[in-house]
Amino acid sequence: MLKIEGLVKRYGKFTAVDGLDLEVSRGSIYGFVGPNGAGKTTTMKIMAGLLRADGGSVYIDGIDVSADTDMLKQKIGYMPDFFGVYTDLRVDEYMDFYAGTYYIPYEERREIIDNLLEIVDLSHKKKDYVDSLSRGMKQRLCLARSLIHDPEILILDEPASGLDPRARIEMKEVLKQLSTLDKTIVISSHILPELAEMCTEIGIINHGKMIDSGSVTEIMSHISKERVVEIKPVDKKAELITLLEQMPNVGNITDNTFYVSFSYRGDDSGLSYILTNVVSEGIPVLSFHEKEGNLEDIFMQLTGGEDNENA
Ligand SMILES: Nc1ncnc2c1ncn2[C@@H]1O[C@H](COP(=O)(O)OP(=O)(O)O)[C@@H](O)[C@H]1O
Ligand SMILES: [Mg+2]
Repeated sequence: MLKIEGLVKRYGKFTAVDGLDLEVSRGSIYGFVGPNGAGKTTTMKIMAGLLRADGGSVYIDGIDVSADTDMLKQKIGYMPDFFGVYTDLRVDEYMDFYAGTYYIPYEERREIIDNLLEIVDLSHKKKDYVDSLSRGMKQRLCLARSLIHDPEILILDEPASGLDPRARIEMKEVLKQLSTLDKTIVISSHILPELAEMCTEIGIINHGKMIDSGSVTEIMSHISKERVVEIKPVDKKAELITLLEQMPNVGNITDNTFYVSFSYRGDDSGLSYILTNVVSEGIPVLSFHEKEGNLEDIFMQLTGGEDNENA
């Protein structure tokens, strides 16, 4: 549906986006993740037709639209990472203003605006001044505005940033609802765990390059080659440790008082072989499980954990 190939953007001598490739399938929620300064906003602005690239192409349904900003603006709804300044308007006037910029006929506007305000849960604020809204409400209004021309693709630049936990949850609810409206959504964040649960695909950007992409599970499997397993025996802990020491591909055996942990390199059948052995040696096992990989650790591992801003 949306594809980017070899995208390059320079600010003077500095290369902010450096040959970036990205592919988003129809109907997916694509998480675009990377540290501050990685090039997310720059890439998203180019996708939305607001910034000109120095190289590379943007394709929508196989058609190169890089040079066709009108086409991009029509197909794409873009929510910037900061809120605009038309704050002396009421909520419905604000929406009407944007409807006008897309030449939506007067007679259609009211229904469209009412529907969108409903979706972002702002119907009750229709006659309030934009200025009087909370930060979370402003973000949701901004989201409604980006939907005004019924775009196929929605590009949301850090929609949850600067929101308190409750406002984040409300924003997430709205995003979930949007995915049921048959939209393809690209959403950026500098925090991977924040996006992981709602995204079907993830791309990780660092220093203007895509460094990994795929489903959350795929990304985890690319890096966590070493699995960590925890066994809790009823007793016979010393025997358990001796036995583990003889098992293939096992390392880092650690006595954690109530359980024993070890690292393991191998597949599921090898892991189940270890459990079978432990049990058949007469060591009573209370639990045997693999420790979940920590997304934040993985993100840090991939990106080096540093902001790109001062690079
Ligand atoms: N208008 C600009 N002029 C010069 N440098 C810029 C400009 N916009 C962004 N940059 C630089 O380009 C890099 C990528 O920025 P940006 O796309 O905003 O990253 P992100 O959204 O991932 O934080 C950063 O190092 C930033 O300082
Ligand atoms: Mg940004």
